Amino acid sequence: MVSDIRLYTESEHLEQAQQFQAVLFSRGVHVELSTVEKLNARFFRLNPDLALCCDADGLWLCANGMKMQPDWKAEVGRLKRASLKSEMIARACNLGEKPSLIDATAGLGHDSLLMAHLGAHVTLVERHPILFTLLEDSHRRAQSDAFLANVVARIQLVFSDSADYLIQQAEQNHVVDVVYLDPMFPQRDQNQQAVKKQAQVKKQMQLLHMLLPEDGEMDLGDNLLELAQKIGKRVVVKRPRLAVFLADKQPNHQWQGDACRFDAYFQHDLVA
Ligand SMILES: C[S@@+](CC[C@H](N)C(=O)[O-])C[C@H]1O[C@@H](n2cnc3c(N)ncnc32)[C@H](O)[C@@H]1O
Repeated sequence: MVSDIRLYTESEHLEQAQQFQAVLFSRGVHVELSTVEKLNARFFRLNPDLALCCDADGLWLCANGMKMQPDWKAEVGRLKRASLKSEMIARACNLGEKPSLIDATAGLGHDSLLMAHLGAHVTLVERHPILFTLLEDSHRRAQSDAFLANVVARIQLVFSDSADYLIQQAEQNHVVDVVYLDPMFPQRDQNQQAVKKQAQVKKQMQLLHMLLPEDGEMDLGDNLLELAQKIGKRVVVKRPRLAVFLADKQPNHQWQGDACRFDAYFQHDLVA
């Protein structure tokens, strides 16, 4: 996991950058701050290494001439088109019931943003300190957006390893309607053609992969299923369409899409 990273900013955003530096330090990341004259496309081309930058739009991850943040404002169009009927994730997670939901693998938070928009009350758990700080910044900025404010009011962020968080919830006899899992999946990367195509479309995922461990060291999240089943009446796992089951465990039900599927595990004996 990245524990040292450079943070570029322009002098007018120095104070905010220093705040990010302090927050990241408290989460175990050593940030070297550099004030530069202009954070423009040329600058990013000339500085292709993985780094952070801070500008008027908050905190960004940058590398290879690209910038990325969990850009929740850019998701508004998609949210406005989404409905309980049109979204497979809505059926898989039974969002019509406005469930309490733990998303134990937050990432960029896009799935959770959609689920919160469609009615879920979401606890979003992420263990990566840089990703978590990016998420926190997106959450904060979304609070001042006329459309997103109501949506993010239903999202609570937790910086933790989900295994620890789920164990803690089980010890306190907490039960939620849904635990949602979307762990990293290396087989996607073995198909280089598919990944290249995907990466051109999804530069966000490309940058996310640079931040997270390589294939060999990747945590596939198999341990999370059993822990999730202790507190979630329904556990929903997002998988690439042809991927093996999480923890090799056959689900009770599946929803199949073109690129991905949702596997659901029901615990009928769990009551709140
Ligand atoms: C594929 S991404 C999830 C993408 C997400 N569904 C979205 O819509 O952006 C997986 C994320 O889960 C996080 N993760 C994996 N295992 C975790 C764990 N045990 N605890 C907390 N976060 C975890 C990784 O750091 C990564 O950010």
